[in-house]
Amino acid sequence: MKVAILGGSFDPVHCGHIAMAKTALQALDCDQVWFMPTQDTPLKDHSLTPAHHRVAMIERILNQDRRFRVCRLEVEREGKSYTIDTVRQLTRQYPENTFYWLIGNDQIAQFADWKDADQLVKLCHFVGFDRDGKMADSPYDIQRIHMPMVPVSSSEIRIGNKLNYLPQAVREYIYEHRLYIKEFVHTRVNEHRYLHSVSVADLCQHLAIANGQDPQKAYLIGLFHDIAKSMSKEAMEQWMDILCPENKKYAVPVWHGFVGSEIVDRIFYLRDPQIKNAIYHHVLGTSTDPYAEIVFCADKTDPLRNYDSSELIALCEKDIHQGFIKIKEENEKYLRKG
Ligand SMILES: [Fe+2]
Ligand SMILES: [Fe+2]
Repeated sequence: MKVAILGGSFDPVHCGHIAMAKTALQALDCDQVWFMPTQDTPLKDHSLTPAHHRVAMIERILNQDRRFRVCRLEVEREGKSYTIDTVRQLTRQYPENTFYWLIGNDQIAQFADWKDADQLVKLCHFVGFDRDGKMADSPYDIQRIHMPMVPVSSSEIRIGNKLNYLPQAVREYIYEHRLYIKEFVHTRVNEHRYLHSVSVADLCQHLAIANGQDPQKAYLIGLFHDIAKSMSKEAMEQWMDILCPENKKYAVPVWHGFVGSEIVDRIFYLRDPQIKNAIYHHVLGTSTDPYAEIVFCADKTDPLRNYDSSELIALCEKDIHQGFIKIKEENEKYLRKG
């Protein structure tokens, strides 16, 4: 059997990886491609998401081609792992297979630094992706296959950019397991707002459990409710002009709810109407949907705010609607005084 190996952190796997795998299957006429997540990358040093999550995300894309497989050989190995160890193990374990090891352009440039590079090229065929006719020079015999550039990287996705390059099943996994999502918010708001968002998310989750609602949905609403809060008036205005020019009559500090509800949909693919509705109404408290009440109350009673909100929180735990009415009243009193 001819097997192409696509090694990588896959933190997370994205459409660029899938395109590489499909290109290799076709160009090399392979029977299978094995996605091989790394346990620890000797030449990189950012800390990786736990391997079981990275493997599980790959498992969610295996249905994209019946020749896709996941290989756990490296993640199951203890301690530091080098490609030479993996290649030796593969050739020992599967002597009947021919292996093609796929590498990206950056890896071709570094190839001479790989442990036992001379041995490696004797044991296995190395194949580099030639993107737009550009491929790094190498003294080693590395076969080239052509693939158009897919303009995305896992590091961009980890901060919440280009989520359109994730298969939907992987996006769902990321939200289900809350991978990277605090970072999505952290890169878009200031530190104070970020701490408030995390605190509100925790309180939303708590109030949802107390009131028999879905804690995961409430957590996401809390985490993203102020996603547009650090945007400039000009940036928000561009969204407002397209989406809801009629809402420009409200004071500018109210706008981040309207804009945020569209951002979670269009940028972050959180398309649940209750999530959008809750964020849309969170500033004024103009919806009595249970999730809208939860985030409105959690936002106003966030323990990081400088007052004792424990009684109000206790009321919300008992009955979110009663808590909502009380907090709204107090808020209106406060605004009148102000
Ligand atoms: Fe807000
Ligand atoms: Fe808030």
